[in-house]
Amino acid sequence: MIQINDLTKVYKLTKKQMTEQKTKKNMMKAVDKLSLRAKPGEIYGLLGPNGAGKTTVLRCIATLLKPTQGDITVKGYDTVKDSENVRKTIGFLTNEIKLDPQFSPRYMFGFFGRLHGLNEEAIDKRREELFDYFGIKDFEDKKIDELSSGMKQKASLAVSLVHNPEVIIFDEPTNGLDIITARNVTDYLKLLRNEGKTVIISTHIMTEAEKLCDRIGIIINGILVTEGSLAEILEKTDSKDLEDAFFELFKIYNKEEE
Ligand SMILES: Nc1ncnc2c1ncn2[C@@H]1O[C@H](COP(=O)(O)OP(=O)(O)O)[C@@H](O)[C@H]1O
Ligand SMILES: [Mg+2]
Repeated sequence: MIQINDLTKVYKLTKKQMTEQKTKKNMMKAVDKLSLRAKPGEIYGLLGPNGAGKTTVLRCIATLLKPTQGDITVKGYDTVKDSENVRKTIGFLTNEIKLDPQFSPRYMFGFFGRLHGLNEEAIDKRREELFDYFGIKDFEDKKIDELSSGMKQKASLAVSLVHNPEVIIFDEPTNGLDIITARNVTDYLKLLRNEGKTVIISTHIMTEAEKLCDRIGIIINGILVTEGSLAEILEKTDSKDLEDAFFELFKIYNKEEE
């Protein structure tokens, strides 16, 4: 279970970032009083455009960023006060975390397995399962450096799941994957969901949210503007599909920011 209460995250901008973002303000509110709950046996989808604040939210859950305000618990553990227990509970995947280019998927998998306290036998068993499922065996001994972006993504996925975490936090998990592998990944997420795990993903792909997620939260400019099952969101916004619903909300909430 993930519980987020009134999460606000403000970044302090460097001069360079201020120039890049064409702003005179040295603060950037990336997430604004966001609350949500993701339950066991459910895939929660955080849907929003680039820059909406999705990665920031997920990094806060994963203990990599501290909330400016508000708090987050994962399975009851506070992400600031009890970050160690949170890290044991979660599997986190993000585009920004890169595997070491010199090592092979097999090596990295073993390394992270031992880091999580697994013995060699358990690591071998788990690697067999996951490498087989994600089709990593053919390149398990190649250097990460030599792999395509799709292969790297698959290896990162497997590594993030080595300790069979109860709570799965995946930032745009199908990013850069071909449709077959992407399907492979979303099918695996459903499997985890059906095992009773808590899954939260971010995505900007409407159809992915529609097909995969049990509940969807739409985030625009750091604000969670609506939340619910697909049917609930369509009803609330009087829309025929998620894309229509999104643009309805985008018209309202993107104006308010200006
Ligand atoms: N480390 C950082 N320093 C300053 N601003 C940041 C930083 N990381 C993200 N931002 C800004 O915060 C906002 C939200 O970013 P992010 O959470 O990455 O959104 P998303 O994942 O939805 O694309 C963006 O405007 C982005 O430029
Ligand atoms: Mg992001």
